[in-house]
Amino acid sequence: MSTPASQRRTTVVAGGQSLAETAATRLIERIAKNPQQVRICLTGGSTPRRLYELLATEPWRAQIPWSRVHWFMTDDRFVPQDDPLSNIGMARAAFLDACAPSENVHAIPTSAATPDEAAERYERELKSFHTAALDHEPPLFDLVLMGIGPDGHTASLFPHAAALEEHQRWVVGVAHANVAPFVPRVSLTFPCLASTGEMLFLVSGDEKRDILTRALSGEDLPAMRAHAMRGETVWLLDQAAAPRNIDSSHAGSH
Ligand code: 6PG
Repeated sequence: MSTPASQRRTTVVAGGQSLAETAATRLIERIAKNPQQVRICLTGGSTPRRLYELLATEPWRAQIPWSRVHWFMTDDRFVPQDDPLSNIGMARAAFLDACAPSENVHAIPTSAATPDEAAERYERELKSFHTAALDHEPPLFDLVLMGIGPDGHTASLFPHAAALEEHQRWVVGVAHANVAPFVPRVSLTFPCLASTGEMLFLVSGDEKRDILTRALSGEDLPAMRAHAMRGETVWLLDQAAAPRNIDSSHAGSH
């Protein structure tokens, strides 16, 4: 089922740089809400790269208590971490390797024999951080970052895939991607992604406007099924991506 519009807040900002800065501010505010161990789930694709690079620079870098923040991935391509297609490889190069203690970086183990085996191993790792059921408070994550693909997928949860209906597993192997790059994937499932204090979608560029128009008009696309179970779900768009019926002068809630 898609997320009811009432559970979703949409914010429109000017462009890619404001998108990254607004996301960095939210990330730092979210960390400040939790004085203990903080868990952040990063997304892949190209949109978040600017945010990640920002986090490695001042004034952002000094505001992150790196020793108590742990970093995870919503999904990854089933390739080695040094492959240009690797999502964790991008995040490492953009900020993690320079800023985060290596023991706080929790990559999906794509060196496993198969995507299914990688999924089982990552699920075990996540369970070592959250020993209760996924709907048990406090949630597994403080913040989950997300994106939307041109077909409406999010993480590596593609339209019509069996993984969309997965309610037991926290992580699944995905044999076929619906869009490029056509490599197998490993993805967290909706119930796992939903166990978060905040889910923050980052959407930038006019090539996203068509799919966003479809999504926000209520079409049942994977990205519209993703939401924080009890926390906030925020869609952060830049003006180029924002559907025409969203008035960016009301840059607050919709
Ligand atoms: C991936 C992703 C995917 C991505 C969207 C948006 O591995 O490709 O995690 O879900 O977030 O496709 O990607 P862009 O930011 O590149 O448009």
